[in-house]
Amino acid sequence: MDNVYPLFKKVTQSTDDEVCSPPLLRVETSSPFKFHPANVGILCRPGGGLQTSSSHFSWVHKTMISPVVHKPVLVKEITAMANTVPSGLIIDATVGLGGHSLAILSARSDITILGIDRDQKALDEANKNLKPFKGRYNLVQARFSQINEVSHQKAVFILFDLGLSSLQLEDYSRGFSFYSNSKLDMTMGADYEKTAWHVVNQYSVKALQEIFSLNGETKQVAYKVAQEIVKARPIEYTNELVEIIMAAKKGRRGKIHPATKIFQAIRREVNNEHNELINGLKSAQSLIAPNGIIAVISYHSLEDRVTKVFFDEITGHIKVEPVANFSFVISRKAIKPSEQELADNPRARSARLRAVRRNSK
Ligand SMILES: C[S@@+](CC[C@H](N)C(=O)[O-])C[C@H]1O[C@@H](n2cnc3c(N)ncnc32)[C@H](O)[C@@H]1O
Repeated sequence: MDNVYPLFKKVTQSTDDEVCSPPLLRVETSSPFKFHPANVGILCRPGGGLQTSSSHFSWVHKTMISPVVHKPVLVKEITAMANTVPSGLIIDATVGLGGHSLAILSARSDITILGIDRDQKALDEANKNLKPFKGRYNLVQARFSQINEVSHQKAVFILFDLGLSSLQLEDYSRGFSFYSNSKLDMTMGADYEKTAWHVVNQYSVKALQEIFSLNGETKQVAYKVAQEIVKARPIEYTNELVEIIMAAKKGRRGKIHPATKIFQAIRREVNNEHNELINGLKSAQSLIAPNGIIAVISYHSLEDRVTKVFFDEITGHIKVEPVANFSFVISRKAIKPSEQELADNPRARSARLRAVRRNSK
């Protein structure tokens, strides 16, 4: 039963299955964690974050334990686009667990892939998943703003699938999730300049308010949360931060958890995601071959807006460039996941795909 789930230290079968129905597994981790309440269900033992002297354990239902699977979003649409480009090199600028790359390598025997990710753990998983295509792909740890330094060859397709993978979100030691209790980290790769701890403990009220309101909080809520964070310092763990946010928002509940936008804003700041996207798109513009496609899947309205404006500029929809040498693929509008995909993968709900093709000259 060990290592069924690579993020857990140990998974063992309960010895009194006849008492617990369905049978439970005892899951150990090296850092505190809680399962998403929606997944825990009703357990016949206490679940969620119990602690012994050296490790943390929880009882969970068997059905909750499965290997990390990241379902690639809009994979049919991406593969259909990849089928229309000339043969050559494809850059998967956010290779993650390799879902999109796998689909493209299966669909096209005349292409090779350069897979890039900031996160070495993601690259290790991608390497396992892409093994059947050994020799047709290379994986490099880098930021996608550097793709034109990493690749010495023009690419026929460049894909950005932004945000986090399931591997990162579900690794509760990394502090991305407000359902876990872990150190304030949120770094995507080893090349970080700051962690969530620095943002939470060292930014001024004004700076925090700015990043929170940029991420969609109202000015008043952003100010209140920023003020309460500064008052409560030092803050070491994600649980403390969640409590401060809940208190500042007086537990207000909408469709999403009250901590969602604040956690997202901190993550975006830690990983410099706004500048990464702008520079990544510029690098892609210079690296794409004639008739090649640049495609971006975003999960956040800010990212979608940056992509939209950039594509409007290089297609000449907004007259900025002296020579607009790109055209929209399919349409100027963003492509959304189908009803069927949303039913299979609720995480795809906010995904928006935009794509442009470089003209032949
Ligand atoms: C949504 S996941 C990609 C999933 C992938 N398409 C798949 O099918 O498995 C996003 C990935 O992008 C990586 N990432 C985010 N920002 C990055 C950046 N600036 N440079 C390189 N990789 C980045 C993350 O580490 C994560 O693994």
